Amino acid sequence: MSRKARAAVFISGGGTNLQSLIDSCAGKDFPAEITFVMSSNEEAYGLERARKHSIPCRVIKRNEYDSSDAFSDAILEELRKHRVDIICLAGYMKLLPRKVVSTYRDFILNIHPALLPKFGGKGMYGMKVHQAVIAAGESESGPTAHLVDEIYDHGEIVTQKKVPVLPDDTPEVLQKRVLVAEHELYPEALRILAMRIISKEARK
Ligand code: GRF
Repeated sequence: MSRKARAAVFISGGGTNLQSLIDSCAGKDFPAEITFVMSSNEEAYGLERARKHSIPCRVIKRNEYDSSDAFSDAILEELRKHRVDIICLAGYMKLLPRKVVSTYRDFILNIHPALLPKFGGKGMYGMKVHQAVIAAGESESGPTAHLVDEIYDHGEIVTQKKVPVLPDDTPEVLQKRVLVAEHELYPEALRILAMRIISKEARK
């Protein structure tokens, strides 16, 4: 392999997906490494996970900047410093500023806990997603890893993984089952994007 793609992971909370990415990146043949973790909040347990693995991390909050432009520039400066190729949103609960989206277009991943294009869009997050899936009587659910553009849950679907919805499922039970699938799916999505970068460079 010529080189590994360099990923940043953006979090706001527990960071179990961050952990699954860290664990996968530890594999010798995995085509990506995590070089930076950004959190929207200093309480996020995911920051502990990053520190434990000596991954540089920083809290960057929108309300500490006068404008969206200044906020974007602070994020982009860190991404440049850590030579980031790919951004993985992993439970990042804030809107990514447009300037960051356009700078990293086609190289920003998100993981959503339902089979998009169903059960996505503004307001569809957390337990609300699983409540909606059960209320609709779906027999299957599962996470979607997709590219991020300016519209919520809208970009190219990179990969999905189905899990059953069982008759007695509560939203909490379904969430747990989907989360297990997320931890398998997200590293796979990062691998796909990393390989896009590496094979493009190899063709040059
Ligand atoms: C996951 O359910 C993911 O689908 C959603 O946010 C949650 C993050 O969980 N985007 P964690 O912080 O990775 O544990």
